[in-house]
Amino acid sequence: MRPVPERRTARLLLRGFRGEDLAPLAALNADPRVMEHFPAPMSLEETAAQLARFRQHWDEHGFGWWAVEVPGVAPFIGWVGLARPRFEAHFTPCVEIGWRLAAHAWGRGYATEGAREALQFGWALQAPRLEEIVAFTVPANARSRRVMEKLGMRHDPRDDFEHPRIPPGHPLRRHVLSRVRRPTEPA
Ligand SMILES: CC(C)(COP(=O)(O)OP(=O)(O)OC[C@H]1O[C@@H](n2cnc3c(N)ncnc32)[C@H](O)[C@@H]1OP(=O)(O)O)[C@@H](O)C(=O)NCCC(=O)NCCS
Repeated sequence: MRPVPERRTARLLLRGFRGEDLAPLAALNADPRVMEHFPAPMSLEETAAQLARFRQHWDEHGFGWWAVEVPGVAPFIGWVGLARPRFEAHFTPCVEIGWRLAAHAWGRGYATEGAREALQFGWALQAPRLEEIVAFTVPANARSRRVMEKLGMRHDPRDDFEHPRIPPGHPLRRHVLSRVRRPTEPA
């Protein structure tokens, strides 16, 4: 396994997942507030499988989801990072940016702070060199959409899509997509 590169921001440490993150990760994945905009809260077994996928993703792609730590405050508050979606849609293949934090950590700007660092990491990748990063969620997820806006991501309603992993007719099937282009390099 390749080591996961760590990143520090003013308040956060983005680091690879450790075994002891499983319990707090399972707790946030089981919290109905955190999972309001997802089809269902996740069981401990589902979270363990997710953690294994997170590690494999870093290994396969050289980028992925980081565990978010607030040094001196909380050893684990959730995750942020970059990933290749595992479904096909009109905008795939692509790299998405995403975030999921424990409810006690919301409202302090942590998601935006971590995501800014993830974007920088994405633009610095050499292989693949990314020209664009996307993010998606359900229309009702105002917090997440606000984070996208603060990152300078643009939503075009023509990009809205039906999530292929969510059954037709399900109220969470409709998704909005936002995009951000690689910043222009200084001449
Ligand atoms: C989405 C999430 C990561 C945001 O985390 P966070 O650390 O609170 O985000 P930030 O503090 O960086 O930014 C949140 C913004 O949403 C705003 N906001 C909060 N509640 C809101 C609401 N009900 N309506 C609109 N905006 C809202 C905040 O005011 C803030 O914007 P501001 O800085 O302009 O004031 C967190 O709520 C979460 O984990 N949610 C559950 C999982 C999830 O939905 N993940 C995204 C899936 S796509």
